[in-house]
Amino acid sequence: METKNWFWLLFCCLGTLWTYRHFKNYFRAVGLALRLPGPKAIPLLGNVLLFLERKNNVLIECGIKASQLYGSLMRGWMFWVPVLVVYEPEHLRVILSNTKVSDKNFFYRIMHTFIGDGLVTSTGDKWRKHRKLIQPYFHINILESYFDDFLQISEEVLGAELHGRNGVKISRIVNDCINKILHKTILGVNLKRDSESPFRRGELLLLKRLLKPWLLVDFIFKRSKMSQMEAQQNEDLHLYVKKILDERRTLTKQAKVNNTCLLDRLIELLETSDFSEKAILDEAVTFMLAGQDSVGTAVASCLFYLAKHQDIQEKVFKEIIDVGADKRLTINQLNQMHYLEQCIKETMRLIPSIPLVSRVLTADVDLGYYTAPKGTNILISIFTAHRLPHIFPKPLEFDPDRFSPENLPNIHPYGFLPFSLGPRKCIGYKFAYIEMKTIISTVIKRFHLSPPPQREELDLSYRVTFRAKGGILLNITPRQK
Ligand code: HEM
Repeated sequence: METKNWFWLLFCCLGTLWTYRHFKNYFRAVGLALRLPGPKAIPLLGNVLLFLERKNNVLIECGIKASQLYGSLMRGWMFWVPVLVVYEPEHLRVILSNTKVSDKNFFYRIMHTFIGDGLVTSTGDKWRKHRKLIQPYFHINILESYFDDFLQISEEVLGAELHGRNGVKISRIVNDCINKILHKTILGVNLKRDSESPFRRGELLLLKRLLKPWLLVDFIFKRSKMSQMEAQQNEDLHLYVKKILDERRTLTKQAKVNNTCLLDRLIELLETSDFSEKAILDEAVTFMLAGQDSVGTAVASCLFYLAKHQDIQEKVFKEIIDVGADKRLTINQLNQMHYLEQCIKETMRLIPSIPLVSRVLTADVDLGYYTAPKGTNILISIFTAHRLPHIFPKPLEFDPDRFSPENLPNIHPYGFLPFSLGPRKCIGYKFAYIEMKTIISTVIKRFHLSPPPQREELDLSYRVTFRAKGGILLNITPRQK
């Protein structure tokens, strides 16, 4: 053979070897996806169109019926990238319980432009270090010290805005209340009007970006209008928090504040660790965003279910009276409201505020009949997991007794995961429970709720969080003193 031909042969062999080495796991993931069932995919686009707003109903329907239609594991395609959709508790345990097996995937990287590099989006050593340093600030004793703020703001907002009338948009009032609570407990700010703050004005453009694959290339995205919008939103939020941070640092130096909000505690880290100011801003912005719609959806949906199930609403009301909370509520009384907590859990089972989270496998993972290769993208369908009939019999029924002390042991430890599970479980879950119980008990103590006619089901839409299309409307009547 001529030297030229030898050269070409060697070039082709090395090229094949390089391609195989770099794409081996991709090809293995494709091989697995081809063996698994899943919704019909369009060539090149895959199933990505399901994330279009007008396809929301199909996406949600697919989540509800996934286990019926596709068994214990399902595949989807994001363009040409295979995605494994996981919802069986044993599979969830393997993937979520160990950070050596999975990590956050590219979805979170593309959230950076908007929310920065806080706990939700960061990975590896940075995440581990920050989580370890921040975790103590979510100790129950510190969270309970926020209770007075939760209560005072709930009473003020609900007292001013809730009147006995029909067709009240409860979701808007609840969201105002949560926004004020977050400003007070995270940033130490007494927010008078929503318009004073840039939070709640921003929009996460993640789903819109996913639908335009060329925008997934950073070089192109950085030159797009969407990137400018996200960067502007991010700057507004960071400048707002930076101004508050500077004020609080001055007050802390003059000993005029005494560790009253989470930001004050984060400021301590500036002195005691190598946390930078940028890191503090990223974390504070993350908490403000992570704690808004998630709690808003859960509270408003729970009020909706209580309105729909009068007998359950009366049991919650009776519990409030029985623990002695008919006067000013205390944290001890709140801790005794176990039935209310069951109602909140049952709400989050049916409507998990964050129905999907995603990961990428960092090692081969054994999922029963199949081995999912390293590098596979995983979509964890919390929504589907919560409707598996072998874990939750009659899954469509609202039944808070599933979470009673007698029935709780029957639920698989990875069967119920509205806050996700494992090392990356929501850091704010205890904060959220105290806040949700305070707001809901404040409403039920004073008002009787019922659903307006023809509004007996929630029409959900998915935009990273679940929310009810057009908001949640309720008929509200003051209770007799
Ligand atoms: C009902 C309310 C809430 C729900 C349903 C919820 C749900 C979740 C879920 C599912 C995750 C995992 C996300 C993922 O892996 O991609 C998460 C993470 C997180 N949540 Fe929440 N959340 C709630 C309230 C809050 C609140 C009130 C805060 C803060 C004040 C908060 C802060 C965070 C943070 C910082 C993370 C990232 C944790 C980490 O990766 O270390 N969340 N949340």
